[in-house]
Amino acid sequence: MKGSIIAGAVATLAAGAAAQAGAWAQCGGQNWSGATTCVSGHTCVFVNQWYSQCQPGAAPQPTTLATSTTRAATTSAAATPTLAPGKFKWFGTNQAGGEFGEKTYPGVWGTHFIFPDNNAIRTLINQGYNTFRVGFAMERLAQNGLTNSFDAGYLRNFTDSINFITNAGAYAVLDPHNYGRYFGNIITNTADFQTFWRNLATQFVNNPRVIFDTNNEYHTMSQDLVLQLNQAAINGIRAAGAKEQYIWVEGNSWSGAWTWNVTNTNLVALTDPENKIIYQMHQYLDSDGSGTAPACVNAQIGAQRVVGATAWLRANNKKGILGEFAGGPNDVCKQAVRGLLDHLKANSDVWQGALWWAGGPWWGDYMFSFEPPSGTGYVNYNNILREYI
Ligand SMILES: *[C@@H]1O[C@H](CO)[C@@H](O)[C@H](O)[C@H]1NC(C)=O
Ligand SMILES: *[C@@H]1O[C@H](CO)[C@@H](O)[C@H](O)[C@H]1NC(C)=O
Ligand SMILES: *[C@@H]1O[C@H](CO)[C@@H](O)[C@H](O)[C@H]1NC(C)=O
Repeated sequence: MKGSIIAGAVATLAAGAAAQAGAWAQCGGQNWSGATTCVSGHTCVFVNQWYSQCQPGAAPQPTTLATSTTRAATTSAAATPTLAPGKFKWFGTNQAGGEFGEKTYPGVWGTHFIFPDNNAIRTLINQGYNTFRVGFAMERLAQNGLTNSFDAGYLRNFTDSINFITNAGAYAVLDPHNYGRYFGNIITNTADFQTFWRNLATQFVNNPRVIFDTNNEYHTMSQDLVLQLNQAAINGIRAAGAKEQYIWVEGNSWSGAWTWNVTNTNLVALTDPENKIIYQMHQYLDSDGSGTAPACVNAQIGAQRVVGATAWLRANNKKGILGEFAGGPNDVCKQAVRGLLDHLKANSDVWQGALWWAGGPWWGDYMFSFEPPSGTGYVNYNNILREYI
């Protein structure tokens, strides 16, 4: 695999005289023998010892302290923000609460479930976060059947929450936190699922800052069904007349980035007449990837777990979003999270952003809580995450 990629690159270079590396192409790194200058409008940016990449933007002005060559090497080691790779389109948090109380449907607002705290979201928006993925339960919206009309009270409260976010200029991701299931049973009727999505998209058809997320973390179900459900959601959304909004599809096996390249390859076949599909993956950094332990495997695990997904996205000309990630409150995880985000940013031609798991008013002392001002994740990671905005 690697050999054939290198051979292809060499052939391309040989074909063009005075070759310059294209947008997002490699332009340096140890043992790199290809072009080291970039096409117009792009700069060769040092990413790591092995890889420099052509990223949009002008070169930083050389200083009198060093030649531009040595400057590139030294400043990159210090991770100077001016040399930071491309910008994310979406960067923010999950907002959990509307899906809580999974055993109790419809349940009672304030007892079994809650929607996000607008003040907390405002605090995050003021710091530059621009995307919030808001969880809800399909069982509370369509209470006695997937194709039923929606419960007015739950819809109103959910919509208020979404509108607060989008009126503030941010993106709101509608996240049916259902794992491909309805009342605990795998959804097998794709026509009903399509109707649910047509009904939901109808409610938000005029809000271009809304993003539709087909379902949270399909798992332990037929791979073809995951494909068919995602396609049904896309079809339902577009049938509602919602054409501007992005659609984030998810994969089987909890939408894990680390297994995407072997598990979810069939999802390459999804189609959207508006061409606005984004592949949403999730990735945690503990040993089993479940996001339940505070320890990360090692400081390099963040990037390691997503490189295969990056390659898949690029090879298939797709765009991705890391819809959930987090790390425990310790230095190894902090390094691993930085490595993860550095990797995503260095590959922001395919990775459109990332969302921390999770904010929400009911997390208490949960190790990943990103609820300002005192959530453990917020206290430990806000300064780190802000570097990537
Ligand atoms: C890469 O370069 C280093 C020195 O810069 C050299 O020792 C090594 O053999 C090279 N590896 C390959 C695969 O060419
Ligand atoms: C909606 O929110 C209000 C508080 O703003 C609450 O009193 C009410 O019970 C909620 N309704 C539902 C159905 O969640
Ligand atoms: C799949 O992705 C994983 C995790 O990023 C990576 O380690 C592995 O090499 C990839 N496998 C293939 C066949 O691309």
